[in-house]
Amino acid sequence: IRVALLFGGRSSEHGISCATAAGVLSALDRERFEVVPVGITRDGAWTLQPDDPELFSLRAELPEVTDNGTRVRLPDSAISREFTLLAADGSRSSLGEIDVVFPILHGRFGEDGTVQGQLELLGLPYVGNGVLASALAMDKHMTKTVLASAGIEVAPWVTLTPARWERQHELFERRVHALGLPVFVKPSRAGSSVGVTKVTAWDQLDAAVAFAFAEDGTVLVEAAIAGREVECAVLEGPGGSTPRVSVAGEIVVTGREFYDFEAKYLDPDAAQLICPAVLGDGELHEMQRIAARAFEAIGGAGLARVDFFLADTGFVVNEINTMPGFTPISMFPSCWQASGLSYPELITELIELGLA
Ligand code: DAL
Ligand code: MG
Repeated sequence: IRVALLFGGRSSEHGISCATAAGVLSALDRERFEVVPVGITRDGAWTLQPDDPELFSLRAELPEVTDNGTRVRLPDSAISREFTLLAADGSRSSLGEIDVVFPILHGRFGEDGTVQGQLELLGLPYVGNGVLASALAMDKHMTKTVLASAGIEVAPWVTLTPARWERQHELFERRVHALGLPVFVKPSRAGSSVGVTKVTAWDQLDAAVAFAFAEDGTVLVEAAIAGREVECAVLEGPGGSTPRVSVAGEIVVTGREFYDFEAKYLDPDAAQLICPAVLGDGELHEMQRIAARAFEAIGGAGLARVDFFLADTGFVVNEINTMPGFTPISMFPSCWQASGLSYPELITELIELGLA
């Protein structure tokens, strides 16, 4: 089975995607799968990259796809599955037929339905969520709207656009203040906490909103939920049946204000991932029930990680990630590992779901 692995990409999570790809390249079952590693540069060029996990693993500095001058061309119609390589010297050669595309891309232009739409147009099978679920889950305002209407608890929030924040400033400032401190200010479409600020005094609000607007034209201000941060991993059920949900993992942040980009990837001492998380009787079951419901509410396929806060009043869904980070130490594979599915088995399972 020939797999085109897409990684890198145009989003602010480029480096995380490379690290995820390194994990997949090193664990892929080579007896069953032949891989064509396609790195997308920050500028959006599709390039053929060496099949070498070492090049892309997460170190003190985030890995990066460098433009080596090659260009990978997709088939020009749904009639063909043949990928083409345009080498740096201008020569053209066939990369052969691709059976399935594995878009390990985080953030905009990859996890948001755009690449998925391109693959749909070409009739290429791919791993993971489709256009709608990807687009919905990338957008935090839309995710919360859909989850709330499915009866799932989400944190109270106010959505800002530059027009609202400039022309109706007093009204929206009043709505934001009504959330009570502290609040989180987030770009609506971003990941890995890029552009996110925890605001603990109202005089920090304007700067936090401007910081988030630099990442996206829609910004959310959310009430902070006091409680534990717990997550679980979802896999599509066989034949579209009830989704499978892993045990829970917990994030304990020690060194920083919150689970920000630094704590996620750069500072090994800032956060601990505990898997399985210790939950009370019935709590795990309740969390799994809500995760499956959330996955179904967005029309999920393939995989997702559902992130929660466990408050005194119960579970509150923070967000759904349709292509969660999965280096071997990330939460998504750790949750499956603790549920009896190893990292290589998980990758095989994902590819098989993409082919089904
Ligand atoms: N957005 C990052 C990759 C995650 O959710 O794991
Ligand atoms: Mg995310």
